[in-house]
Amino acid sequence: MIIPSAQRIRGEITVPPDKSITHRMIFFASMADGKCEIENPLIADDTSRTMELVKSVGAVVSLNGSVLDVEMKKVHEPSSPIFCGNSGTTTRIGLGFLSRLPVFSVLYGDESLSRRPMERVIEPLSELGGIFDGRNHASNLPISVRGGKVGHADYTSKVSSAQVKTAFVVSALSGDDISTYREPFESRDHTEQFLKAFGAIEKTGNTIKIRPSRIPAFKSIVVGDFSSAAFFIALGLCHPNARLKIKKVGLNNTRTGFLEVLKRMGAHIEISNVVQEFEPYGDLIVESSELKGIEISPKEIPLLIDEVPLVGLVGAFAKGKTIVRGASELRTKESDRISAVVSMLSGMGAHVEEYPDGFEVEGEQKLQMSTVDPLGDHRIAMMAAIAGVCANGVEIKNSEIVSISYPSFFEDLKRVVL
Ligand code: S3P
Repeated sequence: MIIPSAQRIRGEITVPPDKSITHRMIFFASMADGKCEIENPLIADDTSRTMELVKSVGAVVSLNGSVLDVEMKKVHEPSSPIFCGNSGTTTRIGLGFLSRLPVFSVLYGDESLSRRPMERVIEPLSELGGIFDGRNHASNLPISVRGGKVGHADYTSKVSSAQVKTAFVVSALSGDDISTYREPFESRDHTEQFLKAFGAIEKTGNTIKIRPSRIPAFKSIVVGDFSSAAFFIALGLCHPNARLKIKKVGLNNTRTGFLEVLKRMGAHIEISNVVQEFEPYGDLIVESSELKGIEISPKEIPLLIDEVPLVGLVGAFAKGKTIVRGASELRTKESDRISAVVSMLSGMGAHVEEYPDGFEVEGEQKLQMSTVDPLGDHRIAMMAAIAGVCANGVEIKNSEIVSISYPSFFEDLKRVVL
Protein backbone atom coordinates (compact mmCIF):
# COMPACT_ATOMS: atom_id res chain seq x y z
CA MET A 1 0.00 0.00 0.00
CA ILE A 2 1.21 3.50 -0.83
CA ILE A 3 0.35 6.21 1.70
CA PRO A 4 0.96 9.78 0.54
CA SER A 5 1.79 12.70 2.81
CA ALA A 6 -1.11 15.00 3.82
CA GLN A 7 -1.79 18.75 3.81
CA ARG A 8 -4.13 18.70 6.76
CA ILE A 9 -5.45 16.29 9.41
CA ARG A 10 -8.96 16.97 10.70
CA GLY A 11 -11.95 15.03 12.00
CA GLU A 12 -13.19 12.49 14.51
CA ILE A 13 -12.30 8.83 15.01
CA THR A 14 -13.87 6.13 17.11
CA VAL A 15 -11.19 3.48 17.52
CA PRO A 16 -12.03 -0.25 17.73
CA PRO A 17 -12.77 -2.00 21.03
CA ASP A 18 -9.87 -2.97 23.28
CA LYS A 19 -8.02 -6.13 22.29
CA SER A 20 -6.67 -7.02 25.76
CA ILE A 21 -10.05 -6.61 27.41
CA THR A 22 -11.88 -8.57 24.69
CA HIS A 23 -9.50 -11.55 25.06
CA ARG A 24 -10.01 -11.49 28.83
CA MET A 25 -13.79 -11.23 28.64
CA ILE A 26 -13.96 -14.25 26.30
CA PHE A 27 -11.80 -16.32 28.66
CA PHE A 28 -13.62 -15.17 31.82
CA ALA A 29 -17.02 -15.78 30.20
CA SER A 30 -15.89 -19.31 29.32
CA MET A 31 -15.01 -19.86 33.00
CA ALA A 32 -18.25 -18.36 34.34
CA ASP A 33 -21.39 -20.07 35.63
CA GLY A 34 -23.83 -19.49 32.76
CA LYS A 35 -24.28 -17.34 29.69
CA CYS A 36 -22.34 -14.05 29.56
CA GLU A 37 -22.84 -10.99 27.34
CA ILE A 38 -19.87 -8.97 26.11
CA GLU A 39 -20.96 -5.72 24.51
CA ASN A 40 -18.74 -4.10 21.85
CA PRO A 41 -16.11 -6.86 21.57
CA LEU A 42 -13.16 -6.46 19.19
CA ILE A 43 -13.72 -8.64 16.16
CA ALA A 44 -10.26 -9.01 14.64
CA ASP A 45 -7.83 -11.83 13.78
CA ASP A 46 -6.32 -12.14 17.28
CA THR A 47 -9.60 -12.16 19.21
CA SER A 48 -11.08 -14.64 16.71
CA ARG A 49 -8.27 -17.01 17.69
CA THR A 50 -9.37 -16.78 21.34
CA MET A 51 -13.00 -17.46 20.35
CA GLU A 52 -11.87 -20.54 18.42
CA LEU A 53 -9.79 -21.73 21.39
CA VAL A 54 -12.68 -21.62 23.87
CA LYS A 55 -15.05 -23.15 21.28
CA SER A 56 -12.68 -26.08 20.80
CA VAL A 57 -13.22 -27.16 24.43
CA GLY A 58 -16.98 -26.68 24.58
CA ALA A 59 -17.89 -22.97 24.70
CA VAL A 60 -20.70 -21.67 22.51
CA VAL A 61 -19.86 -18.24 21.11
CA SER A 62 -22.21 -16.15 18.98
CA LEU A 63 -22.24 -12.54 17.86
CA ASN A 64 -25.66 -10.88 17.97
CA GLY A 65 -25.39 -7.34 16.68
CA SER A 66 -22.82 -5.69 18.92
CA VAL A 67 -23.08 -8.31 21.69
CA LEU A 68 -20.99 -11.46 21.95
CA ASP A 69 -22.75 -14.23 23.86
CA VAL A 70 -20.41 -16.77 25.44
CA GLU A 71 -21.44 -19.83 27.39
CA MET A 72 -19.42 -22.86 28.39
CA LYS A 73 -21.42 -26.05 27.83
CA LYS A 74 -20.00 -29.50 28.57
CA VAL A 75 -16.18 -29.34 28.54
CA HIS A 76 -14.61 -31.74 26.03
CA GLU A 77 -11.17 -32.43 24.65
CA PRO A 78 -10.31 -30.46 21.49
CA SER A 79 -10.66 -32.70 18.43
CA SER A 80 -7.47 -31.31 16.85
CA PRO A 81 -4.53 -29.00 17.68
CA ILE A 82 -5.62 -25.39 18.36
CA PHE A 83 -4.26 -22.71 16.01
CA CYS A 84 -3.36 -19.46 17.84
CA GLY A 85 -2.26 -17.60 14.69
CA ASN A 86 -0.20 -14.52 15.59
CA SER A 87 -1.75 -14.04 19.02
CA GLY A 88 0.51 -14.14 22.09
CA THR A 89 -2.41 -13.25 24.35
CA THR A 90 -4.53 -16.17 23.08
CA THR A 91 -1.60 -18.52 23.64
CA ARG A 92 -0.39 -17.38 27.04
CA ILE A 93 -3.76 -16.81 28.72
CA GLY A 94 -5.01 -19.87 26.81
CA LEU A 95 -2.33 -22.04 28.44
CA GLY A 96 -3.59 -20.90 31.86
CA PHE A 97 -7.19 -21.51 30.82
CA LEU A 98 -6.51 -25.01 29.46
CA SER A 99 -4.50 -25.97 32.55
CA ARG A 100 -7.78 -25.76 34.54
CA LEU A 101 -9.56 -28.29 32.34
CA PRO A 102 -9.27 -32.10 32.56
CA VAL A 103 -8.33 -32.39 28.88
CA PHE A 104 -5.23 -32.85 26.72
CA SER A 105 -4.68 -30.09 24.19
CA VAL A 106 -1.99 -28.85 21.80
CA LEU A 107 -1.43 -25.21 20.80
CA TYR A 108 0.47 -24.02 17.73
CA GLY A 109 0.92 -20.71 15.94
CA ASP A 110 2.31 -18.89 12.92
CA GLU A 111 6.03 -18.35 12.32
CA SER A 112 6.27 -15.23 14.53
CA LEU A 113 4.34 -16.76 17.43
CA SER A 114 6.40 -19.97 17.20
CA ARG A 115 9.53 -17.91 17.91
CA ARG A 116 8.11 -16.10 20.97
CA PRO A 117 9.15 -17.15 24.50
CA MET A 118 6.71 -19.35 26.41
CA GLU A 119 8.84 -20.53 29.35
CA ARG A 120 7.76 -17.35 31.18
CA VAL A 121 4.26 -18.81 31.38
CA ILE A 122 5.10 -22.52 31.48
CA GLU A 123 7.19 -22.15 34.65
CA PRO A 124 4.50 -20.53 36.85
CA LEU A 125 1.72 -22.70 35.40
CA SER A 126 3.77 -25.85 36.09
CA GLU A 127 4.19 -24.72 39.69
CA LEU A 128 0.41 -24.58 39.89
CA GLY A 129 0.17 -28.16 38.63
CA GLY A 130 -0.21 -27.99 34.83
CA ILE A 131 1.73 -30.56 32.79
CA PHE A 132 3.34 -29.20 29.63
CA ASP A 133 5.58 -30.40 26.85
CA GLY A 134 6.75 -28.79 23.66
CA ARG A 135 9.60 -27.54 21.54
CA ASN A 136 12.78 -26.55 23.44
CA HIS A 137 11.43 -27.98 26.72
CA ALA A 138 8.11 -26.18 26.20
CA SER A 139 9.79 -22.81 25.65
CA ASN A 140 8.23 -22.52 22.19
CA LEU A 141 5.06 -23.61 20.40
CA PRO A 142 3.83 -26.18 19.62
CA ILE A 143 3.07 -26.90 23.28
CA SER A 144 0.82 -29.56 24.79
CA VAL A 145 -1.13 -29.12 28.02
CA ARG A 146 -2.54 -31.75 30.34
CA GLY A 147 -4.72 -29.92 32.83
CA GLY A 148 -7.32 -30.41 35.51
CA LYS A 149 -5.27 -30.61 38.70
CA VAL A 150 -4.48 -27.11 39.96
CA GLY A 151 -2.87 -26.65 43.37
CA HIS A 152 -1.50 -23.34 44.64
CA ALA A 153 1.81 -21.50 44.41
CA ASP A 154 3.79 -18.47 45.49
CA TYR A 155 5.49 -17.15 42.36
CA THR A 156 7.72 -14.16 41.59
CA SER A 157 7.98 -13.42 37.88
CA LYS A 158 11.16 -12.08 36.30
CA VAL A 159 9.14 -10.21 33.67
CA SER A 160 6.46 -7.55 34.06
CA SER A 161 3.90 -9.11 31.77
CA ALA A 162 0.13 -8.87 32.00
CA GLN A 163 -0.20 -11.97 29.83
CA VAL A 164 1.86 -14.07 32.26
CA LYS A 165 0.07 -12.54 35.26
CA THR A 166 -3.33 -13.28 33.75
CA ALA A 167 -2.39 -16.86 32.82
CA PHE A 168 -1.34 -17.48 36.43
CA VAL A 169 -4.48 -15.85 37.85
CA VAL A 170 -6.79 -17.78 35.52
CA SER A 171 -5.24 -21.08 36.57
CA ALA A 172 -4.97 -20.18 40.30
CA LEU A 173 -8.69 -19.30 40.42
CA SER A 174 -9.41 -23.02 40.19
CA GLY A 175 -6.66 -23.95 42.68
CA ASP A 176 -6.95 -25.69 46.07
CA ASP A 177 -5.78 -22.71 48.17
CA ILE A 178 -4.70 -19.05 47.95
CA SER A 179 -1.86 -18.30 45.49
CA THR A 180 0.47 -15.29 45.30
CA TYR A 181 1.98 -13.61 42.22
CA ARG A 182 4.57 -10.80 42.11
CA GLU A 183 5.95 -8.85 39.17
CA PRO A 184 8.93 -6.40 39.05
CA PHE A 185 6.90 -3.39 37.81
CA GLU A 186 3.13 -3.11 37.54
CA SER A 187 1.73 -4.23 34.17
CA ARG A 188 -1.78 -3.55 32.79
CA ASP A 189 -4.41 -4.53 35.35
CA HIS A 190 -7.60 -5.32 33.37
CA THR A 191 -7.67 -8.78 34.93
CA GLU A 192 -7.46 -7.48 38.51
CA GLN A 193 -10.04 -4.73 37.81
CA PHE A 194 -12.51 -7.31 36.57
CA LEU A 195 -11.94 -9.98 39.22
CA LYS A 196 -11.83 -7.75 42.26
CA ALA A 197 -15.61 -7.27 41.89
CA PHE A 198 -15.98 -10.98 42.82
CA GLY A 199 -13.59 -10.83 45.78
CA ALA A 200 -11.19 -13.16 43.98
CA ILE A 201 -8.18 -10.81 44.03
CA GLU A 202 -6.39 -8.77 46.61
CA LYS A 203 -3.66 -6.45 45.39
CA THR A 204 -0.91 -4.69 47.35
CA GLY A 205 1.63 -2.88 45.20
CA ASN A 206 2.91 -5.37 42.62
CA THR A 207 1.79 -8.40 44.63
CA ILE A 208 -1.54 -10.09 44.09
CA LYS A 209 -3.24 -12.81 46.08
CA ILE A 210 -5.67 -15.04 44.24
CA ARG A 211 -8.45 -16.79 46.13
CA PRO A 212 -9.92 -19.88 44.38
CA SER A 213 -13.29 -18.54 43.15
CA ARG A 214 -16.09 -19.10 40.70
CA ILE A 215 -17.14 -16.32 38.35
CA PRO A 216 -20.90 -15.70 38.18
CA ALA A 217 -22.48 -15.10 34.75
CA PHE A 218 -21.84 -11.45 33.82
CA LYS A 219 -22.48 -8.67 31.31
CA SER A 220 -19.66 -6.29 30.39
CA ILE A 221 -18.81 -3.54 27.94
CA VAL A 222 -15.49 -3.23 26.13
CA VAL A 223 -14.07 0.32 25.86
CA GLY A 224 -12.05 1.70 22.90
CA ASP A 225 -8.48 0.44 22.57
CA PHE A 226 -5.92 2.97 23.81
CA SER A 227 -3.20 1.20 21.84
CA SER A 228 -5.16 1.69 18.59
CA ALA A 229 -5.90 5.32 19.53
CA ALA A 230 -2.16 5.84 20.06
CA PHE A 231 -1.52 5.87 16.28
CA PHE A 232 -3.96 8.75 15.82
CA ILE A 233 -2.59 10.53 18.89
CA ALA A 234 0.88 10.41 17.29
CA LEU A 235 -0.59 11.58 13.97
CA GLY A 236 -2.33 14.57 15.59
CA LEU A 237 0.82 15.65 17.42
CA CYS A 238 3.48 15.12 14.75
CA HIS A 239 1.66 16.48 11.70
CA PRO A 240 2.21 20.24 11.39
CA ASN A 241 -1.46 21.03 10.57
CA ALA A 242 -3.60 18.68 12.64
CA ARG A 243 -6.54 18.62 15.01
CA LEU A 244 -8.24 15.31 15.80
CA LYS A 245 -10.91 14.10 18.19
CA ILE A 246 -10.57 10.45 19.24
CA LYS A 247 -13.75 9.25 20.91
CA LYS A 248 -14.48 6.77 23.73
CA VAL A 249 -10.88 5.71 24.33
CA GLY A 250 -10.09 3.40 27.27
CA LEU A 251 -8.19 5.38 29.92
CA ASN A 252 -7.13 2.73 32.43
CA ASN A 253 -4.00 4.30 33.94
CA THR A 254 -1.97 1.10 33.57
CA ARG A 255 -2.42 1.55 29.79
CA THR A 256 -1.95 5.28 29.32
CA GLY A 257 1.77 5.67 30.07
CA PHE A 258 2.10 7.05 26.50
CA LEU A 259 -0.08 10.04 27.47
CA GLU A 260 2.16 10.80 30.46
CA VAL A 261 5.27 10.61 28.28
CA LEU A 262 3.69 12.86 25.64
CA LYS A 263 2.63 15.43 28.23
CA ARG A 264 6.25 15.60 29.42
CA MET A 265 7.25 16.16 25.79
CA GLY A 266 4.92 19.17 25.67
CA ALA A 267 2.00 17.65 23.75
CA HIS A 268 -1.38 19.41 23.45
CA ILE A 269 -3.84 16.73 24.53
CA GLU A 270 -7.23 17.49 26.03
CA ILE A 271 -9.21 14.76 27.80
CA SER A 272 -12.98 15.21 28.19
CA ASN A 273 -16.26 13.35 28.79
CA VAL A 274 -14.60 10.81 31.10
CA VAL A 275 -16.98 8.02 32.12
CA GLN A 276 -16.24 5.24 34.62
CA GLU A 277 -17.92 2.00 33.55
CA PHE A 278 -16.22 -1.38 33.91
CA GLU A 279 -13.14 0.57 32.86
CA PRO A 280 -12.78 4.36 32.45
CA TYR A 281 -13.03 5.92 28.99
CA GLY A 282 -13.18 9.40 27.49
CA ASP A 283 -12.60 11.60 24.43
CA LEU A 284 -9.19 12.95 23.46
CA ILE A 285 -8.48 16.04 21.39
CA VAL A 286 -4.96 16.23 20.01
CA GLU A 287 -3.36 18.92 17.88
CA SER A 288 -0.03 19.76 16.25
CA SER A 289 2.47 20.39 19.03
CA GLU A 290 6.02 21.57 19.47
CA LEU A 291 7.57 18.62 21.26
CA LYS A 292 10.83 18.20 23.10
CA GLY A 293 12.86 15.00 23.42
CA ILE A 294 12.85 13.12 26.72
CA GLU A 295 14.22 10.04 28.44
CA ILE A 296 11.91 7.20 29.48
CA SER A 297 12.56 5.20 32.64
CA PRO A 298 12.42 1.36 32.71
CA LYS A 299 9.59 1.48 35.28
CA GLU A 300 7.35 3.27 32.77
CA ILE A 301 7.84 0.70 30.02
CA PRO A 302 5.07 -1.80 31.03
CA LEU A 303 2.57 1.10 31.08
CA LEU A 304 3.22 1.90 27.42
CA ILE A 305 4.66 -1.38 26.19
CA ASP A 306 2.78 -1.41 22.86
CA GLU A 307 3.31 2.34 22.31
CA VAL A 308 7.11 2.39 22.77
CA PRO A 309 7.71 2.19 18.97
CA LEU A 310 5.55 5.31 18.57
CA VAL A 311 7.74 7.11 21.13
CA GLY A 312 10.54 6.62 18.60
CA LEU A 313 8.44 8.19 15.83
CA VAL A 314 7.29 11.12 17.97
CA GLY A 315 10.92 11.58 19.09
CA ALA A 316 11.97 12.07 15.45
CA PHE A 317 9.63 15.12 15.29
CA ALA A 318 10.66 16.55 18.70
CA LYS A 319 13.42 18.98 19.54
CA GLY A 320 16.43 17.21 21.07
CA LYS A 321 17.07 13.53 21.76
CA THR A 322 14.57 10.90 22.87
CA ILE A 323 16.04 7.96 24.77
CA VAL A 324 14.29 4.67 25.57
CA ARG A 325 16.10 2.10 27.77
CA GLY A 326 14.96 -0.91 29.81
CA ALA A 327 12.69 -2.03 26.97
CA SER A 328 14.30 -5.35 25.93
CA GLU A 329 10.80 -6.93 26.14
CA LEU A 330 10.12 -5.25 22.80
CA ARG A 331 12.41 -7.78 21.17
CA THR A 332 9.96 -10.56 22.12
CA LYS A 333 6.84 -9.06 20.51
CA GLU A 334 5.18 -9.95 17.17
CA SER A 335 8.50 -8.78 15.66
CA ASP A 336 11.71 -7.51 17.26
CA ARG A 337 10.26 -4.03 17.73
CA ILE A 338 13.55 -2.40 18.71
CA SER A 339 15.15 -3.45 15.47
CA ALA A 340 11.92 -2.66 13.54
CA VAL A 341 11.83 0.94 14.86
CA VAL A 342 15.51 1.47 14.19
CA SER A 343 15.37 0.12 10.65
CA MET A 344 12.14 2.00 9.78
CA LEU A 345 13.34 5.37 11.05
CA SER A 346 16.88 5.02 9.71
CA GLY A 347 15.43 3.83 6.38
CA MET A 348 13.54 7.16 6.29
CA GLY A 349 16.81 9.02 6.89
CA ALA A 350 16.62 9.63 10.66
CA HIS A 351 19.59 9.32 13.02
CA VAL A 352 18.80 6.46 15.37
CA GLU A 353 21.05 4.45 17.63
CA GLU A 354 20.14 0.91 18.66
CA TYR A 355 20.79 -0.46 22.18
CA PRO A 356 20.18 -4.02 23.39
CA ASP A 357 17.30 -2.66 25.49
CA GLY A 358 16.13 0.39 23.55
CA PHE A 359 17.05 3.17 21.16
CA GLU A 360 17.98 6.82 20.93
CA VAL A 361 16.39 9.06 18.28
CA GLU A 362 17.71 12.42 17.17
CA GLY A 363 14.90 15.02 16.92
CA GLU A 364 13.73 17.43 14.16
CA GLN A 365 14.39 14.92 11.40
CA LYS A 366 13.21 15.32 7.83
CA LEU A 367 11.82 11.86 7.11
CA GLN A 368 12.05 10.70 3.49
CA MET A 369 9.67 8.48 1.51
CA SER A 370 10.72 4.85 1.82
CA THR A 371 9.46 1.27 1.65
CA VAL A 372 8.74 -0.48 4.95
CA ASP A 373 8.44 -4.23 5.43
CA PRO A 374 6.64 -4.60 8.78
CA LEU A 375 7.72 -8.27 8.94
CA GLY A 376 4.22 -9.42 9.83
CA ASP A 377 3.83 -6.97 12.73
CA HIS A 378 0.49 -5.10 12.73
CA ARG A 379 1.69 -2.26 14.99
CA ILE A 380 4.80 -1.64 12.89
CA ALA A 381 2.63 -1.42 9.72
CA MET A 382 0.35 1.17 11.37
CA MET A 383 3.30 3.17 12.69
CA ALA A 384 4.80 3.25 9.17
CA ALA A 385 1.52 4.66 7.81
CA ILE A 386 1.51 7.46 10.41
CA ALA A 387 5.18 8.24 9.69
CA GLY A 388 4.37 8.48 5.98
CA VAL A 389 1.37 10.80 6.44
CA CYS A 390 3.35 13.14 8.73
CA ALA A 391 6.40 13.20 6.47
CA ASN A 392 6.78 12.41 2.79
CA GLY A 393 4.73 9.29 2.22
CA VAL A 394 5.54 5.61 2.59
CA GLU A 395 5.10 2.29 0.83
CA ILE A 396 4.09 -0.55 3.19
CA LYS A 397 4.47 -4.19 2.26
CA ASN A 398 1.80 -6.68 3.38
CA SER A 399 -0.26 -3.87 4.89
CA GLU A 400 -3.30 -6.18 5.29
CA ILE A 401 -1.79 -7.47 8.57
CA VAL A 402 -3.41 -4.53 10.39
CA SER A 403 -6.44 -6.86 10.62
CA ILE A 404 -4.71 -8.54 13.58
CA SER A 405 -5.86 -5.72 15.88
CA TYR A 406 -7.43 -2.92 13.78
CA PRO A 407 -9.18 -4.16 10.61
CA SER A 408 -10.55 -0.69 9.67
CA PHE A 409 -7.28 1.20 10.28
CA PHE A 410 -6.71 2.39 6.70
CA GLU A 411 -10.37 3.45 6.22
CA ASP A 412 -10.21 5.45 9.47
CA LEU A 413 -6.92 7.01 8.40
CA LYS A 414 -8.35 8.02 4.99
CA ARG A 415 -11.27 9.80 6.67
CA VAL A 416 -9.04 12.25 8.56
CA VAL A 417 -6.37 12.86 5.93
CA LEU A 418 -7.24 15.91 3.83
C1 S3P B 1 -1.09 -7.81 26.57
C2 S3P B 1 0.03 -7.53 27.28
C3 S3P B 1 1.28 -7.05 26.70
C4 S3P B 1 1.05 -6.45 25.31
C5 S3P B 1 0.16 -7.31 24.46
C6 S3P B 1 -1.18 -7.56 25.13
C7 S3P B 1 -2.26 -8.37 27.29
O1 S3P B 1 2.17 -8.13 26.58
O2 S3P B 1 2.27 -6.25 24.66
O3 S3P B 1 -0.05 -6.65 23.21
O4 S3P B 1 -3.37 -8.38 26.74
O5 S3P B 1 -2.09 -8.81 28.42
P1 S3P B 1 3.07 -8.54 27.85
O6 S3P B 1 2.15 -8.65 28.98
O7 S3P B 1 3.69 -9.86 27.53
O8 S3P B 1 4.08 -7.44 27.97
